[in-house]
Amino acid sequence: MSGKSFNVSPSRVVSQRTKFRRIITSIPVPQSLSTLRRLGRYEARSMHGQLPVLWHKAKDFQVYDKFGNCWIDFTSTIFVANTGHANPRVVSALKKQLAQGLLHTYTFASEIRAKFLEKLIKSLPSFCQKAFLLSSGTEATECAIKLMRMYGIGVNPEKKVIISFKGNMHGRTMGAEMLRGDPVLSDWIGYKDPNMQALNFPYPWLADSSRYDWGLKFKKDMDLLLKHGLKPQNICGFIIESYQGWGAVFYPKDYIKALCSFAKKNRALVTFDEIQGGFGRTGKLFVFQHYGVTPDLICLGKGISGSLPLSAVVGRKKIMDLPQIGSMSSTHSANPLCCAAGLANLEALSENDLVRQSQRKGKLLSERLLQLKDKYPERVFWVSVRGLLAALILKDPKTGKPDADFANKVCEKAMQKGLLLVHTGRESIKIGPPLTIPDAALQEGLDVLEECFEEVERQAR
Ligand SMILES: Cc1ncc(COP(=O)(O)O)c(C=O)c1O
Repeated sequence: MSGKSFNVSPSRVVSQRTKFRRIITSIPVPQSLSTLRRLGRYEARSMHGQLPVLWHKAKDFQVYDKFGNCWIDFTSTIFVANTGHANPRVVSALKKQLAQGLLHTYTFASEIRAKFLEKLIKSLPSFCQKAFLLSSGTEATECAIKLMRMYGIGVNPEKKVIISFKGNMHGRTMGAEMLRGDPVLSDWIGYKDPNMQALNFPYPWLADSSRYDWGLKFKKDMDLLLKHGLKPQNICGFIIESYQGWGAVFYPKDYIKALCSFAKKNRALVTFDEIQGGFGRTGKLFVFQHYGVTPDLICLGKGISGSLPLSAVVGRKKIMDLPQIGSMSSTHSANPLCCAAGLANLEALSENDLVRQSQRKGKLLSERLLQLKDKYPERVFWVSVRGLLAALILKDPKTGKPDADFANKVCEKAMQKGLLLVHTGRESIKIGPPLTIPDAALQEGLDVLEECFEEVERQAR
């Protein structure tokens, strides 16, 4: 996610008092500015760029500040709080773990870790036999890189090429940024690993007809890499962000199917990065299920705990056990508090049938966003919705070019009216409420989005 510095001069805004929203101060709130400034002074600026709201409390699908304001949350703190902010099951599991008095174990055994792992593996598809627990998504990516390389080198010493997609996001550490294949963002690395290559992303809008052969497109894209000297037998794995993040852009199904059969034929592994899309966000437990394929590894994060720093790589035992005892570790991984949150979060997900809820509510979301596109065909370039994940991709009606400024303005206006949207810094607005959001709050949030959209559109004319 890239960012923008939002204006922090308080604006007088129309007050809002509805069942789900309350805005009763200027926005940003004048009393919040000293804290925002302190963060600006002491924290590296790369952490910033989100909307200037000082969060005090977040409960289920609502966010509160200390000054009497309350927002409907369409962000889930960037796709983390799938089971709702401060889910009661998670809170009570954390309290119990705190009361037990075990806050850290590193690699020493704990009962809560065994309980969580057992529940996790049993909740996942059958190829998921073992997991490696970590703390952040980017660590899970690094772990998947290591496993794919170790697997490949075990087959043939030259089998170490990892194929990713240009523009995909897998995290901010070195390996993860190299996968992105972006010469500007990975400039700081200083060299290009010849064993990491990236395909162009198969944006669905590139197809000139609904009969476009995406399987053939994959073959042609792959041939381009092969023409430059890459040998198929030297590919150890593919890593796929399950949809391209900034615009929730899904791959054409036939493209992914062709990729998976190519990988199988050439004994390469397929890793799906489900860090953002996993745990019901898109109306299925995992995004790869939309494509009708079975990966070898999945990377999990964000919604895995709904709150605490927890991530995982999961796959077949044979691959997961490639690193020797002690040769893959992370001090804070599998922390008892994170495991307690992870276990309670999985229970909350199934107890409330949230994956199905996400699919059902996704239909409401889709209907409303498609109406918006129909109303503003000159402004909305693309709508993507699956489950409770959506993105509107926007263009300038005059030039047809991407319009990030319009997206920023809608996000800012929505904040002033009591709705938090995911600001991407690009020409997209993303939507991802907690899967627990009531239908009426979802509809109200969409009303606000439409209102803001219309106001920004009117000002732009
Ligand atoms: C698809 C994907 N992969 C990896 C990451 C990195 O996760 P983390 O920020 O926990 O390191 C993100 C974070 O936004 C993501 O969306």
